[in-house]
Amino acid sequence: MKDLLQIRGLSPEQIKSILSRAGEYYDIVTAGKKPFPKLKDRSVITLFYENSTRTRASFESAAKYLGAEVVNLSVAASSVQKGESLKDTALTLDALCPDVIVMRHAQSGAPHRLAGWVKAHVINGGDGLHAHPTQALLDMFTAQRRFGSLEGRTAAIIGDIEHSRVARSNIYAMTLLGMKVKLFGPKTLMPFDMSGMPCKVCHSMEEALAGADIVMALRIQLERMNGGLFPSAGEYNKYFGLNRKAMELAGEGAMIMHPGPVNRGVELSYDVLDTPVCFKDIQVTGGLAVRMALLDMLIGGEL
Ligand code: NCD
Repeated sequence: MKDLLQIRGLSPEQIKSILSRAGEYYDIVTAGKKPFPKLKDRSVITLFYENSTRTRASFESAAKYLGAEVVNLSVAASSVQKGESLKDTALTLDALCPDVIVMRHAQSGAPHRLAGWVKAHVINGGDGLHAHPTQALLDMFTAQRRFGSLEGRTAAIIGDIEHSRVARSNIYAMTLLGMKVKLFGPKTLMPFDMSGMPCKVCHSMEEALAGADIVMALRIQLERMNGGLFPSAGEYNKYFGLNRKAMELAGEGAMIMHPGPVNRGVELSYDVLDTPVCFKDIQVTGGLAVRMALLDMLIGGEL
C-alpha cells in the first residue's frame, strides 16, 4: 500500500494489524520508554492547510519517537501565500525526498491529488468533509482497549454529522470491525441522504443511545451558528449535549469519545468532562501509538 487516504478500501485484517502494532507501541510509550528507532534515516513532512493541535503534534511525536526527521511546513508562512499551486508545492516537497507526507486540507480529495503527484507515501490527516482515517483508527484502538473485540458492539455518533469527516471515517471503520452505528443530531446538521452508508439515522437521543457501548460526540462548529443551522450553544447542549443523565440511556459501562477540540459545556457537559467515562485524552495517547504503527508499517511495506 502506498498511501492511506481513507478507511474505505482497507480490509478488517489490515485495520486489526495496525491496531495490534499500535498496542505494542502504546505499552512502550505509556511505560515511559523509548521504542527502537526503527525510522532512523527516514523523513516525514507535515503539510497542514487547516488548523490542528492534536493531529499534527501526534504525527510529529510519532515520527520522532521512532527516530525519523520531521519537517512541519507552516502553510501560513510558505510560498502558498505567494500563490504557489498545490501541485507545485507538492512537487517541491517531494523533491526533498521525504518518505511520508501527511496532509490536511479543507478541500475533500486534496490528499488524493497529492498522492498522484508524489513518490512519497501520503497519509490523509483530514480532508474537507470526506475522511480522517487516522482519527477513526485511533478511535477503534481506544474502544478496543476498553472492550476487547468490537464485534457486535454498538456506537452512537451524536452531533454535526453533515460536516464531519470523523463521522464518515468512523462509520466505515466501525462497520468493518463488526459494529452497528447509529447517528443522531440536529436535522439541519444531518446529511440529506445517508442511504449509501452503513448506519441508521435516529430521531431521538433515547433511540440513539439505547444499547450504545460507544457514544461519540462531535465538535459543534460554532462558526456555523451564523448560518442559522442551530439557534444557540445553550439550546444545542439541552437537546444534543451529553451529560450524566443522558448517559443513563446508554448501555452498561458505555464510554464517551470526542475527537477534540471540545466546546466545553456544549457537546459535553461538565458532569461528564474530565471524568472516567470520558476518554478524550486517552484517545490522544492512542492516536500517538496508532500513528507510530502506521508510519512504521507503511514505510516498512507491511500494509
Ligand atoms: C477533528 C478534525 O479536524 O476533523 N479534529 C481532530 O482531528 N482531532 C474534528 C474537529 O475539528 O471537530
